[in-house]
Amino acid sequence: MHKPGHFDLITNLNIAIPYHNDEIRVLIGNGASSKIINYSQNFGKKFLIITQSKIAELWLNHLQTSLEKIPHSIIKTLNLPDGIILKDQKNLLAIYNCLQANEFSKDDTIIAFGGGDITDLTGFAASTYLRGLNLINVPTTLLGQIDASIGGKNGLNWQGHKNVIGTIYQPQLIIIDLKYLASLPSREFNAGMAEIIKYSLIEETISRETNYQMGPKSFYEVLTKLSYENFNINHPSLKDIIINCLKMKLNTIAKDPYDQNIRHCLNLGHSFGHVFEALFSKDFNHGEAVSLGIIYAFKLSYYLNQNNVEQINQITGLLQNFHLPIKLNANLSFTWEKFATVLKSDKKRSTHSLNFVLPLSKLGLVNYKYPLTLSQIEAFIKTMT
Ligand code: GLY
Repeated sequence: MHKPGHFDLITNLNIAIPYHNDEIRVLIGNGASSKIINYSQNFGKKFLIITQSKIAELWLNHLQTSLEKIPHSIIKTLNLPDGIILKDQKNLLAIYNCLQANEFSKDDTIIAFGGGDITDLTGFAASTYLRGLNLINVPTTLLGQIDASIGGKNGLNWQGHKNVIGTIYQPQLIIIDLKYLASLPSREFNAGMAEIIKYSLIEETISRETNYQMGPKSFYEVLTKLSYENFNINHPSLKDIIINCLKMKLNTIAKDPYDQNIRHCLNLGHSFGHVFEALFSKDFNHGEAVSLGIIYAFKLSYYLNQNNVEQINQITGLLQNFHLPIKLNANLSFTWEKFATVLKSDKKRSTHSLNFVLPLSKLGLVNYKYPLTLSQIEAFIKTMT
């Protein structure tokens, strides 16, 4: 287990998201969950924490102690089983049953406490029970802290298809407590880095189209200066890096909460990434599949004469620096037919079918609605196999 870093300041980001006509509050820092009491006037007295046994063993006491400071608070916990089959009907019904058995009302609050699967499942329950309860997200993984817990997307898997049932429902409060990263295995930390790297590759597009402002150095440049050996949860830059990702995502969501335009750019690397995640689920977690998906997106751009080979080398080096996969091993083969089936089932959810997020000639710029036909994609994929 890493020791938590020494971040003494809790940073507060409030960005107005049109969805609730209100601000989404995000607290970030080591020990940020202890500040929950400052917001308690918004959240009623009853709290249901949805978590998993492994996280509960490590961190539930810590969160509960913070909630107990709220006068007259009543805290219930539902521990869902560990493992990856979490976002299903059975666990959703377990949440509804628990809310009903404990007589939760619309003024009460659900807290999602865990990784992206927990925030997805809990968000869906919160958005549907009594047509919407208060929701607080307390993500415990790096990937959850910089992506999955922000923006209100939630989802359940259905008949083997990922996230086909879901809503967009914003949490009122997101607590990014860096303390919880202390128990994160290094493979999971690296998976979060894949999404962090993704942000660096869309930064200029986000800054051109939203209120996000770039710093004096590009985020990509900042990331290239990190050395893998020293970069862990103790690193003094980690908090700023997380904050930068949150600013990018929150400003993007504020501009396009319903995922119709600029929000698409957050999917860089995800069209191909989802296919690899589905085809090789035993070999890649989400972040690893996104890493491969980013490489494929850059190679697709090169194939379409939209960028240059130098860029491919640069981003390959950056992903490799964080021990992320950059190519498929020879034992992981696939046919175009299998690839296309998964790709189409992912893409057909969008009315803008087969639009891709395509890197352009400058790192940080993308075209987030690049239309491609299936036969163009087939021709490209065949050059890769
Ligand atoms: N993870 C992409 C999004 O929230 O839109």
